[in-house]
Amino acid sequence: MPSITINGRSLDFTPGQTILQIANANGIEIPQYCYHEGLSIVASCRICLVECMAPNPKSGTLEPFMGGKLLPSCQQTAVDGMVVMSDSPKAVANQKAVMEYLLINHPLDCPVCDQSGECFLQDYSYEYGRGVSRFEESKVKNPKKDVGPHVYLYSDRCIMCTRCVRFTREVSGTAELLVQGRGNKEEIDVFPGVPLDNELSANVVDLCPVGALLDKDFLFAQRVWFLRETAGIDPLTASGDNIWIHNNEGRVYRVKPRANPAINKWWITDEVRYGWKFVHSEDRLRSPMRRQFGALVECDYTKAYDDVVDALRAAVAAGKKTALVVSPMLTCEDAFALAAFARKADPNAILALGHVPFVGTDKVFPAGAREDDPKAFKMYAEKAPNARGVKRVLDSFGGEVLTYDQLLPRLGAGTGSSDINALIITGNYPADWVANDFLAALAGKFVVLIDTLLNTLVDKASVVLPGATFAEKAGTFENARHVLQAFDQAIPVIPMAKSEGQIALDLTAVLDGQPAPREREVPVVIETTRGQVAAGAQVALPYAQPFVAASIRRQMAAAFPALAVFADGVRLPPEPPRAQSGMKMVEL
Ligand code: SF4
Ligand code: FES
Repeated sequence: MPSITINGRSLDFTPGQTILQIANANGIEIPQYCYHEGLSIVASCRICLVECMAPNPKSGTLEPFMGGKLLPSCQQTAVDGMVVMSDSPKAVANQKAVMEYLLINHPLDCPVCDQSGECFLQDYSYEYGRGVSRFEESKVKNPKKDVGPHVYLYSDRCIMCTRCVRFTREVSGTAELLVQGRGNKEEIDVFPGVPLDNELSANVVDLCPVGALLDKDFLFAQRVWFLRETAGIDPLTASGDNIWIHNNEGRVYRVKPRANPAINKWWITDEVRYGWKFVHSEDRLRSPMRRQFGALVECDYTKAYDDVVDALRAAVAAGKKTALVVSPMLTCEDAFALAAFARKADPNAILALGHVPFVGTDKVFPAGAREDDPKAFKMYAEKAPNARGVKRVLDSFGGEVLTYDQLLPRLGAGTGSSDINALIITGNYPADWVANDFLAALAGKFVVLIDTLLNTLVDKASVVLPGATFAEKAGTFENARHVLQAFDQAIPVIPMAKSEGQIALDLTAVLDGQPAPREREVPVVIETTRGQVAAGAQVALPYAQPFVAASIRRQMAAAFPALAVFADGVRLPPEPPRAQSGMKMVEL
């Protein structure tokens, strides 16, 4: 294998790799602005220039490469035996010169800039810049612009790396952005009357290495150094896109793409980026409720759970059918715990996959690209993250397992005749999804609703149990390409709500005759495993052991050979990166 030496470290490389790619892959920092793995290479910012030596092909002696000129490491492919220095006096002088040049017109507004704390210009100023500015003239002030529904452009902060322009041409294929003007009047802009408005538009905010492109939704919302990163999976569509959920003190502030070249590359859709708002909706269900004299009234978990278990027992005793409808918005672990409870309460319980919403058709970006093109990005019409995972889990239980379309006639939709007497319905959809035929078919049945948002099903429910959104639980989703991916819990469950899996474990404990926690003072112990937020179980005490996704996965694998993949075949998210500060702490 060919090898190269960068800053004294000898490294093997694959032919075709550039110097910067080798450095990045091996944790060697060479400053870079315009280079991005997912975009074409333009080598325009010039901060990555390095000094190179290479063996003379005839004599084999090491000589200055290309006459000793500094070369852009992002563009220069590596040559076997090459010796590269990004820390030589010549390379460092260039880094300082580029930084000084970029800062000439840059405003000193870090204290009010959203990018502060995750800004390459700020970081490189500290590492490669000068401590003082020699520029005494007036700065050119380029304007601020509203370029699209999600994005502001602060042109005065732009360093003209053109990442954003290349994104709209090479990835979204929509080409709304352009470079206009020349010299210090050069600016990024949109074409007249054509806003930056496409399904992937806000990815340019992540791409911008400085604070020039800003997310309207996150503007002045939170300083980034207060945010905790939690690894998540797209909770709204079948894409399985990898995301970071940025949160602080129990609130989600933004969702960003988590790079995974095999799934979503470096991008997410705006739908996934902004679709988390229902987590903090005013319409969240916040207490168990039971129907008394025709009206739903708030109650404690003990009464609600007793009602559920009594109704299921009564249905079985009367020779009637019971059913469990597991929403495709739930995790595989939730589905397993719920199905295990349903089959324990009634060995013949019908298990059904809930409604899987579709909106429009699948879309591939850029338009016209083939789906199997390694650079193409796909947006899914299927608006549920885990239909395949839930189906996989329910199928493993055997017995009567239905799709939503098969369930409707069994409930009596259209005919009015049904042998199902009691059913548990789970929701967790970001918006009301219930169709009129489903609602009508519930008349006269004992309906237990486990859901997160107020919706039309609540009016039909005999018992309502408040569930937990994707951000409040850990678990596993199986995407449209059948990739099983685990994700971590980002924030605690809101007070008095519980994850659907926890509700299932509690109901199983009640079915087994275990006393309510108040009577036996259960200490709440959360297994020390990644992905669980300890505060999640504190307000509404669990009746059974706390629901821990990792241990449920082990139970799943042990219970059914068809679920053996959950023992070790589930992709776990990476540990969130830890920021390493080179700054010395000063005791005041
Ligand atoms: S707006 Fe940001 S991404 Fe676009 S050219 Fe300027 S610095 Fe680069
Ligand atoms: S990163 Fe190499 S020139 Fe910009």
